[in-house]
Amino acid sequence: MSDALAARLRDEIRALGPIPFARFMEVALTDPDLGYYTRGAPRPAREGDFLTAPEMDPVFGLTLARQVDECWRLLGRPDPFVLREHGAGSGALASSIVDGLRADGSVLLDPGTAGAPPLRYEPVEIDAARRRELTVRLAATAPGVAVADPVPGLRMSGLVLANELVDALPVHRVVGRPGAPDGIAEVLVGWADDPAAPLGGRFVDVVADPSTPALAARLAAEGMVLADGQAAEVRLADAAWVAGVARDLERGHVLVIDYGAPAAELYDATRRPEGTLLAYSAHRALDDVYGDPGDRDLTAHVDITALEAAAAAAGLEVLGRTTQAAFLLACGLEEVLGRLRADPALTMERYLTLRSAVRRLLDPRLLGGFFVLALGRGLPAGGDRLRGLAGRRDA
Ligand SMILES: C[S@@+](CC[C@H](N)C(=O)[O-])C[C@H]1O[C@@H](n2cnc3c(N)ncnc32)[C@H](O)[C@@H]1O
Repeated sequence: MSDALAARLRDEIRALGPIPFARFMEVALTDPDLGYYTRGAPRPAREGDFLTAPEMDPVFGLTLARQVDECWRLLGRPDPFVLREHGAGSGALASSIVDGLRADGSVLLDPGTAGAPPLRYEPVEIDAARRRELTVRLAATAPGVAVADPVPGLRMSGLVLANELVDALPVHRVVGRPGAPDGIAEVLVGWADDPAAPLGGRFVDVVADPSTPALAARLAAEGMVLADGQAAEVRLADAAWVAGVARDLERGHVLVIDYGAPAAELYDATRRPEGTLLAYSAHRALDDVYGDPGDRDLTAHVDITALEAAAAAAGLEVLGRTTQAAFLLACGLEEVLGRLRADPALTMERYLTLRSAVRRLLDPRLLGGFFVLALGRGLPAGGDRLRGLAGRRDA
């Protein structure tokens, strides 16, 4: 157990009283020294707690590269073209995208007017160790491609990517209370003393009036009414995140890839009476979200309806959404696979890992069921729709 982080949270609760779960989650994941994502542990990778699509196999990024190239063309081939990745992790996605652009002979990597390729990669990553790791990785895999931190206040033309980032943004926990003025109560995190327990107690649920009217307002805006006792999560942080993306984007596209559902499905009392909040440790999903803060990932499904509404409010156009499986197929996954399989250097081992990765990427119960949400701003009027949305099936 990350006792030091648990003790910090305990002391905060003792000083302030019960805290919203969003505060607990924010500290557990992103405390500057001891947070799950900030203390420099190896994740997400094979030795970590879960495996994302780009960490599982480069074929994901090799295929996405085709969409990146098309986004650049649709914008009129700006130079520079910024690929800004939120939650960039170890750089696995960026380096496989560059590999894909190279394999496809994309002009994005050819020297442009300034003598350097138009592609400029800007990682947004909260973990300083991973930011360093990805800079080294890209210097090796993408020589010539400029890698730089986003410049505050400077608006970009390009593509914003976020793969499995939004699900890690903090959520409040609520529970349906039809008799209450707002129709909900909030589940706060309290502390119960117990001299026999490590740290002298444990975190407990405290059901109370909502800490902010924004929770009921969000549900009301979506037309959602929770059933009596129905547990759910509300992620207010998604609006601030997408507003930040919109503020920085002068012209271009945004692709958000994650697991989630429209509000009507997410807040359906029959399908999800307990909400979607989970902890992950060593590839296992755990219901105990209070255990080992800082050692476990915490995640909840993305409310796609809320994200789309927040994007529209921030001035982004909602271009459409599809499933990850449909998106990858429309981007040319089969062609990319054909090229990889035709490589005379392909070993049997690589063939087998590739085959298993593609199965997972296309399986609707696994990564294939993720959603891909496309947003845009300042796009040419009547412009073509993204190739990844062709044959779209609303996720
Ligand atoms: C589940 S991992 C996904 C990493 C990568 N996108 C991938 O698909 O492999 C989430 C990543 O987002 C980063 N992260 C979490 N919260 C963040 C935040 N508020 N701002 C920027 N990065 C964040 C984490 O450090 C981690 O690298």
